[in-house]
Amino acid sequence: MFPAKIHSDRRAKLRAELSTGLVLFPGNRDAAFNYPANTYSFRQDSSFLYFFGLDHPDLAGVIDLDNGTDSIFGNDVDIDDIIWMGKQPTIKDQAALAGVGNSAPLKELALLILEAQSKGRKVHYLPPYRGETILQLSDLLDIHPSKVRAGASEELIKGVIKLRMVKEEAEIAEIEKMVDVAWRMHTTGMKMAKPGIVEQEIAGVIEGIALSYAGPVSFPVILSINGQTLHNHYHGNTLVKERMMVIDAGCESADLHYASDITRTVPVGGKFSQRQKEIYQVVLNANLAATAAVKPGVPFREIHLLAAAEIVKGLKALGIMKGDVQEAVSKGAHTLFFPHGLGHPLGLDVHDLEGLGENLVGYDNEVTRSKEFGLAFLRFGRKLQKGFVMTIEPGIYFIPELIDIWKKENKLPEFINYDKVESYKDFGGIRIEDDILVTDTGARVLGKPIPKTVEEIEKLMS
Ligand code: GLY
Ligand code: MN
Ligand code: MN
Repeated sequence: MFPAKIHSDRRAKLRAELSTGLVLFPGNRDAAFNYPANTYSFRQDSSFLYFFGLDHPDLAGVIDLDNGTDSIFGNDVDIDDIIWMGKQPTIKDQAALAGVGNSAPLKELALLILEAQSKGRKVHYLPPYRGETILQLSDLLDIHPSKVRAGASEELIKGVIKLRMVKEEAEIAEIEKMVDVAWRMHTTGMKMAKPGIVEQEIAGVIEGIALSYAGPVSFPVILSINGQTLHNHYHGNTLVKERMMVIDAGCESADLHYASDITRTVPVGGKFSQRQKEIYQVVLNANLAATAAVKPGVPFREIHLLAAAEIVKGLKALGIMKGDVQEAVSKGAHTLFFPHGLGHPLGLDVHDLEGLGENLVGYDNEVTRSKEFGLAFLRFGRKLQKGFVMTIEPGIYFIPELIDIWKKENKLPEFINYDKVESYKDFGGIRIEDDILVTDTGARVLGKPIPKTVEEIEKLMS
């Protein structure tokens, strides 16, 4: 874990954002996989990690905004546990590692909350996302489980978003290390992309690389020759020469849990056909133009729309789209090919902070979320700030079912050459995703460069 001072500084900054009451951070518990004693690999809650850093189940952290104390609650293990798990640090010692002076058994947490509530003190907590935590909060706060999420503190949510969005040097270094592991995952996957191999063989190897050099993958590996399905977790296809293979994968560090999230798309066999090269170059141009446009103060929605314009421009040159580029973007014509958002924050969560509410993370009074198809999927639209880490992930997809619907409705025919689009229904999809840091003046692409141009990819795969 990070040194104690990093965590105590973060807690001090959080205090400065909040008014009065208790702040309760329930850590995660073990969750049963297929029977109680066979659990999923333990993953600590990201906000608990951020403020307390302790990577063990069944802990809770409390910040008292009124008397200035911080506490860790948890139960010391007994000899039965030690027989199975080995010697464990005491709760007191764990608390000290987080710079927390007070520790107590979990039953005292219940008394503390009861007492606070009886005095009418506010208990702030973040919206829980696991059933176990909902039930724990339901017990502690004496409210029905169905009411727990709605009782989350918006003041706390906003404070946590404000702090976690701006990454410290140590966090950036950690994310960058995870991009370097993703370099190994992706370059290995690219070299394996030969006709006749089954997707699962590659997916298994790259997930193994994550586990060997870091921790688990940061989300289930997306690896498919059917890249037109955005989050395709089916790995049963055999690679064929005519298709491109999308790999969207990253990992998180074993101890600190910062994530990477990278996408590359390569031609099976290593050589782009003319048609693949043309579409690929359009996506690459969108990726590069978007990255070049990043700087503090620019709304991410503007950068998303710039990437969309680059896509329309490129597809127009290929005869797939037509008409005025800006008008096409404002009417949403590009969403037939680029239906998702340009990117999202990245950090302790691969979609960082998403569980606290996408609109509170990604939108504000200045930039509100669109309801239009395509733009509505943009998870983050507000102005960028120095220290934000974001993904930049434009794509072009030929989704046969979506094309059929638009064509049948004759949607936006002034911008789309449906006859030409028909001939691309067997193409699949391309996405190119990098992880970037917003700097003083622009963007820095994080980590060891992963082959991205046509030439770099063909060279690596030859
Ligand atoms: N890994 C899913 C995404 O790129 O958002
Ligand atoms: Mn991704
Ligand atoms: Mn992503």
